Amino acid sequence: MCGIMGYIGTRPAKQIIYSGLKQQEYRGYDSAGIALLDQSLSINKTKGDTASLNLQKLSDEATMGIGHTRWATHGEPSAANAHPHHFGDIVLVHNGIIENFEDLKAEIDTTKLKSQTDSEVLAALINLYFHSTKDLLQATQQALSRAKGTFGIITMSPKEPGALIAARRGSPVIIGVDDEQYYIASDPTALIDHTDRVVYLEDNQVAKLSKAGLEVYDLKMQVQSIAVEELEETERASKLEGFESYLEKEIYEQPTALTNTMRGRVSEDGSIVLGGPNLALEEMQAIKHILIIGCGTAYYAGFYAKYRLEEMLGIPVSVEHGSEFRYRYGAYDPEHTLAIFMSQSGETADTLASLHEAKRRRIMTMGIVNAVGSSLARDVDHGGIYLHVGVETSVASTKAFTAMVVALLMFGGFMANKLGQNQVLMRNLARELAMLPSEITSALELHKQIKKLAEELYDRHDWFFLGRGELYPVALEGALKLSEVAYAHAQAFPAGEMKHGPISLIDAKHVSVLLLPEDELLYEKGLSALQEIKARGGTVLTVSTRPKPSQSDYHVEVAHTGPHTDGLVMNACLQLLALEIAAKNKRNIDKPRNLAKSVTVE
Ligand code: G6P
Repeated sequence: MCGIMGYIGTRPAKQIIYSGLKQQEYRGYDSAGIALLDQSLSINKTKGDTASLNLQKLSDEATMGIGHTRWATHGEPSAANAHPHHFGDIVLVHNGIIENFEDLKAEIDTTKLKSQTDSEVLAALINLYFHSTKDLLQATQQALSRAKGTFGIITMSPKEPGALIAARRGSPVIIGVDDEQYYIASDPTALIDHTDRVVYLEDNQVAKLSKAGLEVYDLKMQVQSIAVEELEETERASKLEGFESYLEKEIYEQPTALTNTMRGRVSEDGSIVLGGPNLALEEMQAIKHILIIGCGTAYYAGFYAKYRLEEMLGIPVSVEHGSEFRYRYGAYDPEHTLAIFMSQSGETADTLASLHEAKRRRIMTMGIVNAVGSSLARDVDHGGIYLHVGVETSVASTKAFTAMVVALLMFGGFMANKLGQNQVLMRNLARELAMLPSEITSALELHKQIKKLAEELYDRHDWFFLGRGELYPVALEGALKLSEVAYAHAQAFPAGEMKHGPISLIDAKHVSVLLLPEDELLYEKGLSALQEIKARGGTVLTVSTRPKPSQSDYHVEVAHTGPHTDGLVMNACLQLLALEIAAKNKRNIDKPRNLAKSVTVE
């Protein structure tokens, strides 16, 4: 994955590229680099994020250049493996993976490689073709025709000053157009300060940007038409505004964010109005199966909603990981299946690839996305729902999770309304949704209590998160959050599965977070799990809408609203727990090690 940024124009390029990279750091931040070209080439590369760059080593006058912020795939995070790669006459930044880079090495002088990256091999291949063609555009195009895998690249050459070449396959490349100036980025947020006129490169297109203007070709050098579009309303990066981390800020933003997600969409009489989904009544009536696809937190949001949607709609709902669906046979009947793709960024490679696979299989596709104008939002066939929760900066997703669940519940209610289903159930859903923002506000008031818990438990390394029904996905999300930001070893299980294996891990140091629902039967079953853990000397933290069970060691009690939303309120408490345990362990809360916010490679 990674973020790329390029500029060619009339103004000094350094700050433009630097701030463009900063905006895209969520895509990876283990190393960074900038190369600027004027009379000579200046390059600075570093391990660490963009703040570690030494900008003084870069030309103040250069009016063209490229930059990169990296999430390592091939080769450890280091200055040598950081981009831009300079090989021979070619300077290159690359987002994606060149899968056949080992084969391509046969054609280049590998003794001159300075890194372990696939990207430098691509730079070397372009260099090879540059020597025969003496033309950067053709050399880039010829090398890319040989490349397997994904790329969003920018190349430049001191031998051909005055031109940037950009190309894409599977990794987004957006070109911002302004008078005599061009910007190139992986994400439109890096462009909004400069222009609102953009060109979205399509797969296998190569663009040349120079004083002569913008030219776009395919990989066979056929001229392509250029559609300059107005940049859709793109959110600006947010500021910390007194919070210590974006994670904390975004947890606290949830009540407002959810109000925005539901604004104008949910009415108390149970009616739900959604303008985004583009499905005719006959198409809706034909749906006999809903398939929800996402990765990470988005997958868990879909998993949570599955429980409620099946009850609302009376049809089966399956949830699949993006990385699984795309390569699996999956016996889905295209005429009767609606696939809903979930993604905060709208750029996750596995989710996008699954979307393209679903379209190939002629399955109806819809999106639930936060980033307006993202690839996923643009590629679905039947529209979808924007979350409207604002920019999520922290790598660990919080407000997007809650809003994705709400969006799916709204969609369930919307579809049920249209199909004339149980009106009482719909009214209850609308009532619960309307109360959710204030219920989450109340849960956030438990912050102090949860911080105290974290102070007692912060040094425990092994955790279970247990729940039944939709509290099982909440357990999964709680475990993910704790492992992502606090680096604790956390696993989630359906509470009833404990006795089938995981219980062997319980000992005095082990903490189990047990989510107990309001429902009498499942509450009682949960208490059995509590007894079983206590009988083996484990520590138990219960989170419930009911008072503290006598055997539990620690307890967090939240208000009870109803089955659709109780889990989301408990989830807010688990978010705070992860935050506080990470803070106590002095973790890099917003940029946890080894992660990136948007995973744009397989
Ligand atoms: C990465 C992030 C997760 C996120 C997942 C899916 O793994 O670290 O926080 O849930 O990608 O991202 P998406 O943008 O598709 O929701």
